[in-house]
Amino acid sequence: MTFTAPLTLPGLALDPLWYRRAVFYEVMVRSFVDSNGDGAGDLQGLISKLDYLQWLGIDALWIPPIFDSPLRDGGYDISDYHNILPDFGTIDDFRELVTKAHERNMRIVIDLPLNHTSDQHPWFQASRADPEGPYGDFYVWSDTDEKYPNVRIIFTDYEESNWTFDAERRQFYWHRFFSHQPDLNFENPAVHEAVFDVIRFWMDLGVDGFRLDAIPYLYESEEGSGESEPETHEFIRVLRRMMDTEYPGRVMIAEANQWPAEVVEYFGTEEDPECHMAFDFPVMPRIFYSLRSQSAAELNRVLSETTETPEGAGWGVFLRNHDELTLEMVSEEYRQAMYGWYAYDPRMRVNIGIRRRLAPLLDNSRAELELAHALLFSLPGSPFLYYGDEIGMGDNIWLPDRDASRTPMQWTPDRNAGFSTADPGKLFLPVVQSLVYNYSLVNVESQLAQSRSLLHWVRNVIHVRKAHPAFGLGGVRVLETDHESVLAFVREYAGSGTQFGDAPERVLCVFSFAHNPVSARIRLDGDNGQPLWDLFGGGAFPSVRDDGVLELTLATQSFYWLHLGDRRG
Ligand code: NOJ
Repeated sequence: MTFTAPLTLPGLALDPLWYRRAVFYEVMVRSFVDSNGDGAGDLQGLISKLDYLQWLGIDALWIPPIFDSPLRDGGYDISDYHNILPDFGTIDDFRELVTKAHERNMRIVIDLPLNHTSDQHPWFQASRADPEGPYGDFYVWSDTDEKYPNVRIIFTDYEESNWTFDAERRQFYWHRFFSHQPDLNFENPAVHEAVFDVIRFWMDLGVDGFRLDAIPYLYESEEGSGESEPETHEFIRVLRRMMDTEYPGRVMIAEANQWPAEVVEYFGTEEDPECHMAFDFPVMPRIFYSLRSQSAAELNRVLSETTETPEGAGWGVFLRNHDELTLEMVSEEYRQAMYGWYAYDPRMRVNIGIRRRLAPLLDNSRAELELAHALLFSLPGSPFLYYGDEIGMGDNIWLPDRDASRTPMQWTPDRNAGFSTADPGKLFLPVVQSLVYNYSLVNVESQLAQSRSLLHWVRNVIHVRKAHPAFGLGGVRVLETDHESVLAFVREYAGSGTQFGDAPERVLCVFSFAHNPVSARIRLDGDNGQPLWDLFGGGAFPSVRDDGVLELTLATQSFYWLHLGDRRG
């Protein structure tokens, strides 16, 4: 397969707000392409697919941890922050990846779990062996397992306590995730120095930013919940100041699975900023809720609530990622409804969430896949695609934990889906062979050959989005509609007035979650009589009426993106 890239000058464009225009793609190196036939993906494999990702329209890759690790938590259990897992390649391979991505104007964002390490990390080994030594205080140790009683357990299916007894040191250590992942002790200034060293090491290798994994959990307190404690925010502010001074233009992305009012705190303030971006955990489950409830009310509410962010800050919007579809931040009533719709087999659940991929969640409905992607690409924030979702890959719920949706990328109908030349039994995870999502049917090669495939559709939407800066840079105004299934908002952008020459524009986005065609009236006061044009084909739509109302009919589970106002040019 060869991909013809658009003609652009090689190298990174100097755009300080690049992360707000960018389309991100989460790629698990182990799952993407195996270049050496050992059964697991690697950096050279990823490099070989950069042309494909550029063709798709991807501007930045988010790469989950590739550090040395015993891989008991998909690499989020790090045993050496300064080395790459040998199965994935070498630091030189990583350098090559950064260079080749940058040549394509593509950025590299790495995952950086700072909250915890693997218990195999030499810091932990030293800490447990020598309490008085230089690493004695690197982790959170206690004589009892009764401290921090208000702190919840995150991996409810696997852990009964956040404390585990260490037989060597004869004390308990603190861990918010698996018991083999002890939490670093952020009360210790030496830990700050050590993690700053790690960050500088990777920044010096040229990465464009990092995802702050599990960032709310750095500090714990006797009275608090151990999430978003004031000291955690203070640490992030100090880190941001270092980044702005030493590595301007690189971004920090918060993984803070918190309630809406708390997530926005991770942006900080205009004067004292924290992260450039934060994943929009509140909006994600509400997309899935709306699809089944046929009601736009929840999305409407949450969109109206969370839009006040400092200048320069941006949301990371996503449908799925390498974790379970988390239901931690929805009410019990909604959670039960979601389990009923999306995880009717208990095997589909893990912790407080659902371990399935996008296409199976939406029962492979093309209308729902398009509607969900249309939201992903037009909600305020930058979209994060999960590898394989662009072709509607399936999952394997017979695999343990979150491996269900981390199976090899399906490139071709050939052996191992073109992922690897290894003996099929040697693959780190089997390729999907289910009836509907079998790799012989669902793969990149066959979708490239069908002009109406999901892959071509997703690529087209990405390119339309990128041609309209209002999506990345504009504000959002939620509109009143008279139909409970219809969500409408305007993305409006005043124009940049910079060397990018972006002109002002407004895009009206309308979505119907109804399972039948509907007609709706949308209030566009102040836009009385304004014309509307379809962003995809350029066709003219009926104008806003003189009384400021727009009447639209929408097909079952469909959407419009309409240019609002006179057409430029
Ligand atoms: C969040 C990551 O997304 C998840 O995969 C991991 O298990 C936990 N952090 C613990 O590192």
